Formats: sequence, C-alpha cells, structure tokens
Amino acid sequence: MTDRVYIFDTTLRDGEQSPGATMTHAEKLEIAAMLDDMGVDIIEAGFPIASEGDFAAVSDIARLSKNSVICGLSRANFKDIDRCWDAVKHAAQPRIHTFIGTSPLHRAIPNLDMDQMAERIHDCVTHARNLCDNVQWSSMDATRTEWEFLKRTVDIAIKAGATTINIPDTVGYTAPVESADLIRRLIAEVDGADEVVFATHCHNDLGMATANSLAAVEGGARQIECTINGLGERAGNTALEEVVMAMKVRQDIMPFSTGVDTTKIMGISRRVATVSGFPVQFNKAIVGKNAFAHESGIHQDGMLKNAETFEIMRPTDVGLSETSLVMGKHSGRAALRSKLADLGYELADNQLSDVFVRFKELADRKKEVFEDDLIALMRQNNAEEDRIKLVSMRVVCGTMGPQTCEMTLNIDGADQSVETTGDGPVDSAFNAVKALFAHEGRLQLYQVNAVTEGTDAQATVSVRLEEDGRIATGQSADTDTVVASTKAYINALNRLIVRREKTAVNFDRKSVNYRDAGE
Ligand code: KIV
Ligand code: ZN
Repeated sequence: MTDRVYIFDTTLRDGEQSPGATMTHAEKLEIAAMLDDMGVDIIEAGFPIASEGDFAAVSDIARLSKNSVICGLSRANFKDIDRCWDAVKHAAQPRIHTFIGTSPLHRAIPNLDMDQMAERIHDCVTHARNLCDNVQWSSMDATRTEWEFLKRTVDIAIKAGATTINIPDTVGYTAPVESADLIRRLIAEVDGADEVVFATHCHNDLGMATANSLAAVEGGARQIECTINGLGERAGNTALEEVVMAMKVRQDIMPFSTGVDTTKIMGISRRVATVSGFPVQFNKAIVGKNAFAHESGIHQDGMLKNAETFEIMRPTDVGLSETSLVMGKHSGRAALRSKLADLGYELADNQLSDVFVRFKELADRKKEVFEDDLIALMRQNNAEEDRIKLVSMRVVCGTMGPQTCEMTLNIDGADQSVETTGDGPVDSAFNAVKALFAHEGRLQLYQVNAVTEGTDAQATVSVRLEEDGRIATGQSADTDTVVASTKAYINALNRLIVRREKTAVNFDRKSVNYRDAGE
C-alpha cells in the first residue's frame, strides 16, 4: 500500500520571487500549463495583491488549468484575501493560501502580541473559508516559532476551517530529524489534525531542503511544497524533481506515491531555466547536464556492461532521450517540430517557421546539431515586440587593443549605427549598445557556457541587468561568443524596458512588502 503525497509547486510564486527570475505573463501561462499537464496537484500561481501583473497571471492560470488546484498567496488581511479570491475563483478547483510570520522575529514586524496574532489568524482563516472551501494556512517561520505558540496557531487555523496546514522552514534552518519530529508532534497533539493535510515548505539555505521535506513526509506531512530546479529566494526551495524522484527510486524505504509524470521533468526543467534566466548547475541532482554523464573509463566500462552499475534511475525516467545527436542540415520542419516537442516546446506554425530559419542557419555553421543546441536556439528571444534588435555587428580584436565594434541596432523601427572601442571585444560591443540606447542598467552578471563540445560549439550567455531595484535577465546563444553576449545583453535590456514601463503604470510589486502582515 502506498500513501499519496500531494505535490504543490510554487515555481510561479516563491520561485519567481528570486531576484532576477521574473517571468513574463506568457511564460507564466506556459509553465503553468506544463505543471498542470505533468500531474502537479496544486499550482501556486502567484501573489495576486502584489501587482496587476501577478493578479492577471493568477486569474488566467485559474481559467486555463485543467487538472490542478490553483492557489494564490495572500498575507493575513482581508484585502489580500479578497484580491486572492478574485483571482483564483475562476479555477475549477481554487485554493486561498494565507500566512503570517509567527516566530518572535516575524511577530515583531506587524508588532502584534501573541493574542492579537491568534485573533488575526482566526479572523483571516474564517474570512477565507467563507469565500472558498479549500484554504491553506501557513505559520511562516514555523521552525523558529515557540512550540506552544506554533501549536496554538495551528489549532486556531484548523478550528477556523483551514483544510491544509503548512509548516514552513522559511529560512532553511531546520534539519531532517527535527523536521520529522515537528510534524509528528503537531499531528499527535493538535485536535482535528487528522482531518487536515499537513504540508512542508523548505528553503535550502543549509542544503537540506530535500532531506527536510522527505523527513517531514516521514513525520506525517502529505503535501510537499517545491519548485522546478529548486528555484526560489536565496538558496532556493525544495526541488520538485529531487523529492519526486527520491520517492520513486527509494520506494523500499519511502513507500509514497505522487501524481507526477516523471518523464516530463527534463522538459519543464529546461523551460524554467530558460524563462527564469537561472541556468541549472551542471552537477545538479536529476536535471543537471552531468547527472547522467559517465566520463571516467571505469564508469563507462561498467555502464556498457550493465547500466545499473552506476545508474540508480534511467535517463528516460526523467524524460532524457537515449541519444542526443538529433538533427543536421537536411532535417525538415516535421522532424524539428517533433524533436522540439520531445524537449518540451510546443510551437504554433508561425513560431516553427521562425525557429526553422534559425535552425537552418545554425546547421549550416555547425556540423552536428545536438539537443542542447536546439534548447539554446529556443532560448533566443526574437520577440516582435522588442524595442531593440541587433541588425549587424563587427568586432575587430587582437593583441593590439583597444578592440573596436561597429554596430547597427534597430531601435523602435529605425536603424542606428555607431563605432566604439572597449577593453576586449565584449566590452566594446556592450559599449556600442550603451552608445546607441542610453540606459542606467548596471551589469550584475555575465556568464558564458559552451553548449556542446568542440570549437564550433555554441556559447550560451546570460546577462543580468539591474536598474532602480528592477532586475532583468537575458540569454542568447551563438557559435560566436561576442554575438551571443551582445544578443543576451540586448535581450536583458528589452526585458528591463518592459519592466520599467510596467512599473510606471502599475504599482511596483516591491512596494508590497511580503514580510509585512499589516492591512
Ligand atoms: O517561506 C515561506 O515561509 C513562504 C510562505 C509564504 C509559505 O514562502
Ligand atoms: Zn518560501
């Protein structure tokens, strides 16, 4: 007999809260559709009061999702809860999630004493429950909350009608033994605990989020809150792929089941990495580029004789195909469409036409086109609505600096050219962009990776820009590293402009203090 564990994905809320990971509306809908399709039980689609954009994303996801429960986050006040309900109510299965920080440090922020906070919890859960029959309560920073007070908050929330009780390890402070024990004791000591689902929500500050979540399940939790690739504030949240695969592979000691189709893991992992601009570390468990790579001679020899020598799960279990050599310059549109679908990209005809042109250009320059090349190709943003587009560039470099760059950009429909110098080819190219489109964006991150092997490999480049607290990440790929860098820079700049325009008309998401429970 296996016990069902509900998977609650918060990539679009806690994940999207990581600085620089902001996604566009279309990207959020796309990720939500993938989560819905792969069997995630509950999707936390956003924080509706935070901005008009968050509200629109949660409402649209609520309208479009077919299978999952759609949840929105709200602080413990009526205004947040009402706004959350207005967004999630369109879902076939809506949920309101409301929370307050219950530890001494968090209680000090809204300046509530224990009794006032207890009353607030009662009122807010009751109010939420009058709107929706599916209500989740979270005692934020539960793992640093005094035991008696934590028990009291959980007891009040259950009596007021909460159907799920979440015990977050907000700052990634707990350890597995403690995590299991906390849930076990709450279930044993709080009246009515057996009528609700206990959830675990762990952050990875000490690298223990996955272990803590699984230990909480051992202690009786039946909902794990997690994100794709472990995306999330600071060191991130529990990684969905890790908990799901751990329970699948180690059924002998963790006899729990989930509804997740694990073969969809790789596709969504790549897509989240692309849209969030947070690349997956090479040696990341389950979804890292090296997770199934066997390089040393002894390992390869063992693998050839029997894959189980070094593999505890098959690459196909997580949606990785056996062969990565896929296409060449003679491949047609149908083959490209089908290969991209395997990689998690469903394209409309006009999108396919655009990608097909770029694929042919790449195949002409590169002898072999691998899966990773196609993923890099898909990362390139050629959005019609971009204000700035690269028309052409030429960089002259060598041992006798300074390096020079001639560049033409199309800005708001008009071509403009410039010639600049710089300390290296990339610097000269970035200076050209700055000369043509003046901006205050500061470069926070510049990262280059080779997609595949060989000197004709594509380089994928990530660029993160910051302007007045707004952060935007751009990515691009090209066999020419300087071109890839320039396109990534322009991509980040286009995203920054969108963000700048959005905050001019809406109120800034940052102005809603996530930690502030006040009304
Ligand atoms: O980490 C946390 O405590 C949260 C809550 C809002 C659940 O994200
Ligand atoms: Zn969190």
